[in-house]
Amino acid sequence: MTKVGILGVGAYLPARKLTNLDLEKMVDTSDEWIRSRTGIVERRIASESESTSVLAIKAAQAALKDAKISVDKIDLIVVGTISPDSNFPSMACKVQRAIGAKKAAAFDVSAACSGYLYALTTAKQYIQTGLAKCALVIAAERITNFINWKDRNTCVLFGDGAGACVLGKVKSGGITADFIQAFGDHGDLMYVVPAETRRPLEVEKSGTYQLPYVVMQGKELFKIAVNSMADAVEAVLKKAKLKSSQIDCIVPHQANDRIISAVAYKLGIPKEKIFVNIDKYGNMSAASIAVALYEAVKSKRVKKGDNVVLVAFGAGLVSGANVIKW
Ligand code: UT7
Repeated sequence: MTKVGILGVGAYLPARKLTNLDLEKMVDTSDEWIRSRTGIVERRIASESESTSVLAIKAAQAALKDAKISVDKIDLIVVGTISPDSNFPSMACKVQRAIGAKKAAAFDVSAACSGYLYALTTAKQYIQTGLAKCALVIAAERITNFINWKDRNTCVLFGDGAGACVLGKVKSGGITADFIQAFGDHGDLMYVVPAETRRPLEVEKSGTYQLPYVVMQGKELFKIAVNSMADAVEAVLKKAKLKSSQIDCIVPHQANDRIISAVAYKLGIPKEKIFVNIDKYGNMSAASIAVALYEAVKSKRVKKGDNVVLVAFGAGLVSGANVIKW
């Protein structure tokens, strides 16, 4: 079977930082609570001109540069996002237009915090079946679009950002195993209350307009996140025929440092083997793993020959994992 691997990685983070101390002035919270309960110290907030597609385009350009691949080679663009600029056109089509990838098919994938893994797994199949040769996989979120800045249960957790990779054929290694799953029955544990769009005429007449905002039952999600991420790692290792002791680095979704520690404990893997950058960015939904992988590679935490595991969990609920021989 055709081997498919990551040829280059890129990321883009908005410059504006919102620290825990800034949040102390906005809601009834404290730096101490946020750090000790989540591990987050600060997060990035997109500027007015940085829409989700702008974040995606910048991450995509960085990944193309890193892979040293010219844009005319790209024949597929898949973007994992739950915060697109608008319902259509897709973020992938906006990226295609901006970078001039004229040969590419382009579409978005909606899998919340597992969006990067779902996009990666999807694009890999297209290359393996021969429908595409070289793909751009992007995860971009302007998740603060959905934040109610008066709700301390959620507003301290999230941030904006984007990460990307170029995916293509490799001679050895690459993505050696994939595992994705969903638990739709638990969809009410985290969701976005949408803007009033079902009866736009009445809303226009009344002159009131409700902004979308995220609702989350954190405690319940916490337990399911730990169990499903640990299960996903075990399932994907079985597929890859690897033992947990053979993993060099795990790049998990960054929702909460305590979730990451609990997953490490459950798997019997030392925490040092897990890449964590939640302190700098908070939870960037689909973009969290894409940015963390970029930073793990650039800081040489992930090196050639390493067995790397990506593992995600998010609203839906959806989870997944991949094994990559770097
Ligand atoms: O991205 C994937 C999906 N998301 C997740 O997987 C998130 C999973 N859940 C979590 O990470 C954690 O449950 C949270 C970080 C969201 C919350 O941490 P927790 O330890 O589960 O806290 P809690 O919800 O049980 O709240 C404990 C207390 C409550 O006060 P009382 O009722 O004990 O008086 C909350 O009102 O902490 C209070 N609290 C806060 N206090 C200060 C909640 N948010 C804050 C806050 N600052 N920002």
